[in-house]
Amino acid sequence: MQDKVTITYNGKEYQYPIIEGTEKEKAIQINSLRAETGLITLDPGFKNTGSCKSSITFLDGEKGILKYRGYPIEYLTENVSFLEVAYLLIFEELPTKDQLAKLQKDIYNESLVDEDLKTILKSFPKAAHPMGVLASLTSALTAFNPNCVDVSSEEAMYKVIIKLLAKFPILAAWTHRKVKGLPLNYSDTTLEYVDNIAQMMFKKPNMDYSPNKIVSDALNKLLILHADHEQNCSTSTVRIVGSSHAGLFASISAGISALWGPLHGGANQAVIEMLNAIKDDGGDAEKYMQKAKDKNDPFRLMGFGHRVYKNFDPRARIIKKTADEVLNSLGIEDPILSIAKQLEEQALADPYFVDRKLYPNVDFYSGVIYKALDIPVEMFTVMFALGRIPGWVAHWKEMRMHKEPIGRPRQVYTGKTKR
Ligand code: ACO
Repeated sequence: MQDKVTITYNGKEYQYPIIEGTEKEKAIQINSLRAETGLITLDPGFKNTGSCKSSITFLDGEKGILKYRGYPIEYLTENVSFLEVAYLLIFEELPTKDQLAKLQKDIYNESLVDEDLKTILKSFPKAAHPMGVLASLTSALTAFNPNCVDVSSEEAMYKVIIKLLAKFPILAAWTHRKVKGLPLNYSDTTLEYVDNIAQMMFKKPNMDYSPNKIVSDALNKLLILHADHEQNCSTSTVRIVGSSHAGLFASISAGISALWGPLHGGANQAVIEMLNAIKDDGGDAEKYMQKAKDKNDPFRLMGFGHRVYKNFDPRARIIKKTADEVLNSLGIEDPILSIAKQLEEQALADPYFVDRKLYPNVDFYSGVIYKALDIPVEMFTVMFALGRIPGWVAHWKEMRMHKEPIGRPRQVYTGKTKR
């Protein structure tokens, strides 16, 4: 017998079914609540609202578990490449060798963008933040590929997904090259997906580029760790924009804008800026711990806390280990890594952080690695976006395949009534 919840309102009883997910999470299905009772639910920030059923990513914030399509994140970062994870998220299974080769080939066949996009890029000031530039260029892809908005067949959907996986890294690399004053380049189709991204970003015009295993392994790990995180702010944005049947490029562009904010993906940039500021201020971690706890001070310990994780973010554990490995392999001693470790150690022993269940999140150590790889600070969130593309695509595809209705929340009006 299905469990039900009974609501008593105005002397009448109403029953709503409890639905259960495959990991035993439970939810009250309330679609008919307003029609039957006249009531809506009010939940600012959607702290307690499920917006869809999804079979892509499972996370348990209390236990610190993260799985993509059932595979633990720890397994994926150790055993497969970012492109394999992209395939897993979007097409539901890890690819066979042949499926992976076909995906790579299809992507490279689409790895060009219209040269006119360079004109759009050139018209931005050099100091423009790369995330804003990237959101604009991604949105502009619709203008250059207008047939991609109609995805009524599976073939059309596959085509637009491949176009995005192929063209987005070019645009991301170009935003970096513009900041660095480097000529804009294209893919080297002899390289693996992630090595090619590194090549497009870092290759100097007067030198050959050969992939570096430390860089390649670190980038694969970082991109996998960022690849999906169920219904976060940017992913929900992609789903909701896509639910109006705006095309994939427009939906992803909106996701990029959502990711940009410092409370979301922009936190990786904010963490490095915070760590540098602490270093320049004499390296006194304790002083900044006090500021973070002071309710009259707007300062927050960036890279700490998470809406869903009330335990260690499993991605932060992997990233911390990777940061140690990368810095050791590259022979870099960066004082900000030791400041980060001091902050973490103090926070984990401090009742303010312990009581509020505030732990390091994915962004706390990622910037230290990006910095070691010589990626400029303003590109950190672009790196996050590169990683998140497969997740956004998987959610957009799932939303379209499920034929979800247009996303349209309600509100409780609190304005003037009659004037
Ligand atoms: N430093 C100090 N105090 C904090 C922090 C922090 N980083 N994070 C939360 N708190 C405190 C809040 O002040 C609040 O205290 P109170 O109960 O005394 O008022 C309590 O902890 C709960 O915080 P909320 O802001 O209500 O939690 P919410 O779930 O809304 O926010 C968020 C989560 C936005 C991630 C928040 O923890 C934060 O701002 N962290 C810093 C920014 C950051 O690292 N963002 C990246 C998130 S991961 C990602 O998007 C990839």
